[in-house]
Amino acid sequence: MDNEIDPKIMDNITKVCICKAIPRSKIKNAIRSGADSVVKVNEVTGSGQGECRGRRCGLKIKALVDGYKKGEWE
Ligand code: FES
Repeated sequence: MDNEIDPKIMDNITKVCICKAIPRSKIKNAIRSGADSVVKVNEVTGSGQGECRGRRCGLKIKALVDGYKKGEWE
């Protein structure tokens, strides 16, 4: 039996922006739709606008944007 969890499920349950409870799936969808910077992702999803003002999620979002540009995920 395969014990690996479907990556889509992981994207749905993994919160990138903890303050706003925004899952990785929503961040990825924004990037796929053309948000090609942290600022643009924040505008589209509402990330980075919580209590920490993006200190906890900004670098994670940047890594996702950069990874998409490098073709690390689609
Ligand atoms: S974790 Fe995103 S604004 Fe705080």
